[in-house]
Amino acid sequence: VSPVWLPGDPGGPERAVAGKAVQSIQTSLERVAKKQLKDRARGGQTAGVQDYGQPGHSQSAADAAKSADLVVEAVVENLELKRSLYRQLDSTAPAGCLFASNTSSLGIAELAEAADIRRLHFFNPVPVMRLVEVVRTPDITEAAFNQLLEFSRSLGKSAVPCKDTPGFIVNRLLVPYLTEAVRMLERGDATAEDIDTAMRLGAGHPMGPIELADYVGLDTTKFIMDGWHAKFPNVELFKPSDMLNKLVEEGRLGRKTGQGFYKWDSKGSKL
Ligand code: 3HC
Repeated sequence: VSPVWLPGDPGGPERAVAGKAVQSIQTSLERVAKKQLKDRARGGQTAGVQDYGQPGHSQSAADAAKSADLVVEAVVENLELKRSLYRQLDSTAPAGCLFASNTSSLGIAELAEAADIRRLHFFNPVPVMRLVEVVRTPDITEAAFNQLLEFSRSLGKSAVPCKDTPGFIVNRLLVPYLTEAVRMLERGDATAEDIDTAMRLGAGHPMGPIELADYVGLDTTKFIMDGWHAKFPNVELFKPSDMLNKLVEEGRLGRKTGQGFYKWDSKGSKL
């Protein structure tokens, strides 16, 4: 795993971001390993977390791409940033290296100006969620599509093929649902806690929609809805929510900033 970021001052904020990314991957790895190691110990095998390997990192996207077979890009949803990153990756990546974007809201044709890009869509938290959407973009070859399916399955995920439509399958259903829950709160129909309890206990969801919006990020939720609203202004379900806009404007983005609809501690647990 190589978390990559754009080059800048090597002693600057990029270093802190890299440290945080590696730390977060390691923590996740330890959580996954803890369970698997217990199972292996029961089977009489000895193993340690170190057997799962160490995440690598690089200060330069171009350097990181030199020996890559596959690059999965998951930087913030900013078209110019992504394009610039792809230009750097494309300058050194070996022929045959596949580029896949995790973007859930940007059009692949816009990104593809910089390089030949595919779509693989993972879900938060990635080590736990068993799905990957593999998107059949119009120009993808059968061989490249199968490689992406195979790669996703090699991670132990279920790979679902889908068309390149807004939100693919999951987000097309999930993001309007999250926004509907915010609208319900906005109208005063129920409290955040009651909406969440109702959907956990009444629909069997692991998290209620208000908590999930915080978990995904209110900026991400808003960004996706705004994009769809601009494209389909008459679709009622895609209309913006004043409450969501206000929270994002105030920098209350959910779990990542410690405050959204709920408060979150520095370890990412809801208070
Ligand atoms: N890394 C590794 N393992 C993790 C983890 C992480 N970040 N987070 C949780 N886990 C593991 C725990 O170790 C635990 O493992 P165990 O069962 O072996 O003990 C297991 O997952 C359950 O975790 P917890 O006991 O801490 O907590 P919960 O049972 O409440 O589960 C949750 C937490 C998995 C996040 C669950 O609440 C959940 O599934 N929530 C819904 C998540 C969801 O809907 N995600 C999709 C978001 S949409 C998206 O990502 C698309 C984007 O484009 C918008």
